[in-house]
Amino acid sequence: MSFDRSIKIAPSILASDFANFGAECAAVEAQGADWIHVDVMDGHFVPNITFGAATCAAIRPHIKGIMDVHLMISPVDAYIEDFANAGADFITAHVEAGPHIHRTLQAIRATGAKAGVALNPGTPAEAVEHLLDLTDLVCVMTVNPGFGGQKFIDMSAKIKTLRNMIGDRPVHIEIDGGVDPKTAPIVAGAGADVLVAGSAVFKGGSVSDPAPYGTNIRAIREAANGVYV
Ligand code: DX5
Ligand code: ZN
Repeated sequence: MSFDRSIKIAPSILASDFANFGAECAAVEAQGADWIHVDVMDGHFVPNITFGAATCAAIRPHIKGIMDVHLMISPVDAYIEDFANAGADFITAHVEAGPHIHRTLQAIRATGAKAGVALNPGTPAEAVEHLLDLTDLVCVMTVNPGFGGQKFIDMSAKIKTLRNMIGDRPVHIEIDGGVDPKTAPIVAGAGADVLVAGSAVFKGGSVSDPAPYGTNIRAIREAANGVYV
């Protein structure tokens, strides 16, 4: 997996048909998705429950590219091995999920997976300052985690601070929450390269009518790249 800062669109399957994850992943990939974003929620760290490592393992064979697993769970460490064995390429844990995020990132990397660290809207960029050599991705939440379809919270200042802090390190900046063609240019302009989008990708389409997924992905990508259609 080579590193680059081009815009990558990562549809979140939280907004897809839960009875059809495999086909939904294949459909969005065929329609131009770069990564597949998988939201794991425990009803404890966030006020919602989705699914765990067994579901990730079941989804994996249906994804040709990157499986990007976002853990909204606490504690994290006891489950890292399970998500790595499920075939996650990136495993992202929240800095707020426990007192030992440094150890968590070491443990993720020890499995061979890429390590991500996520920041809630209320958490400053400085929280990851001493973690940047241990991480492959910083996820800036632009909603409070737990639900899809929420209103975008502008975190441009935090993204710019992170972009400067990261410098030449091969660390992605991912944005998660409320990304659509209107908000994509804001976050891309501030320095983000991975744009997670749930509702804005899956709206209007289905496994039997996937063309709208492609239209939606292109609209976000073109907006982020500064091409307005
Ligand atoms: C929120 C999740 C997001 C969510 C984004 O807790 O981490 O990935 O699915 O959904 P939209 O794009 O609908 O805001
Ligand atoms: Zn997410």
